Amino acid sequence: SQYQKGVKHLCENGINKVPKKYILPVSDRPNMKDRELINVKKQNLKLPIIDFAELQGSNRPQVLKSLANACEQYGFFQLVNHGIPSDVISSMIDVSTRFFELPFEERAKYMSSDMQSPVRYGTSFNQNKDDVFCWRDFLKLMCNPISDVVPHWPSSPVDLRRLMATYAKETKYLFLMIMVSILESLGLVGTTEHKTEEDEILKDFEDGSQLMVVNCYPPCPEPNLTLGIPPHSDYGFLTLLLQDEVEGLQIQHQDKWINVEPIANAFVVNVGDHLEIFSNGKYKSVLHRVSVNPMKSRISVASLHSLPFNYMVRPSPKLINEENPRGYKDTDFSSFLEYISSCEPKRKNFLESRK
Ligand code: SIN
Ligand code: FE2
Repeated sequence: SQYQKGVKHLCENGINKVPKKYILPVSDRPNMKDRELINVKKQNLKLPIIDFAELQGSNRPQVLKSLANACEQYGFFQLVNHGIPSDVISSMIDVSTRFFELPFEERAKYMSSDMQSPVRYGTSFNQNKDDVFCWRDFLKLMCNPISDVVPHWPSSPVDLRRLMATYAKETKYLFLMIMVSILESLGLVGTTEHKTEEDEILKDFEDGSQLMVVNCYPPCPEPNLTLGIPPHSDYGFLTLLLQDEVEGLQIQHQDKWINVEPIANAFVVNVGDHLEIFSNGKYKSVLHRVSVNPMKSRISVASLHSLPFNYMVRPSPKLINEENPRGYKDTDFSSFLEYISSCEPKRKNFLESRK
């Protein structure tokens, strides 16, 4: 149908109402009252901010505590002073914008229903399964091993491969650096007897999986009827999210949806299902969703990182004890893929099936 061509294509043909295909049942709609409430209380609902440079300095012990607290209480934090040059970041947003501005036929070359494809252009959450479509078009790029996959990435705009590969490498390195701190915040490093487990898992992460999802949310004439992405949690260890200056991301916190304020040059980092399992439930993989904007188009780039595809994810033995018995089954990517292709029509939280 026409909706398979995506939201951008739909908007380019001129609409002033949200088509039925995108209208959520009343109970699933983002509600205005929520939004007003959020604005009133905005001051106390800011996400924790972690200063990466400070984390590397003499304040490390305190910042590690804030990091642990953020991962336990919010499942999310904003990372500033992370060291990725601002031109790498602005070029990533810029080339993403230019990709979505290409003629539809050019973008459509990369449409694929193969979940394992190194490049996949598409729309909604899962356009082959969704009853109600969501207000998003995306470009998904596999990033590992980087030199094998880049030749499959879009050849237009001409600088896309170069700029996105640079961005992918920078975020991968930053992910590894954050994981060192996450492991330490879980009490898994710092003493010689634990050193081997740390070294081992960090080596595994170096060869781990990385998926980059470039999202485009065109302006929506009736933003209260639909969502850019429905509530979900991310499956990996960590997601590093770059968002432009347009608000949209909302996370579930104490039974409310709270807005994540865009901070220039910061990454929104969140705990994924695999880290919740690995931490035996200490760190939380939190539901989040994306609301759409009536006036502005929004671009975001999510980099999802985890272990290699064929690895098992299990709670760290050091985090299982009498007080905290093992809370999760072992899992791997194939059980995740099986799970998402089997759950129709609504996606339940994958994690719930692994408890
Ligand atoms: C996502 O949750 O995958 C995307 C979030 C966003 O666009 O802000
Ligand atoms: Fe997400």
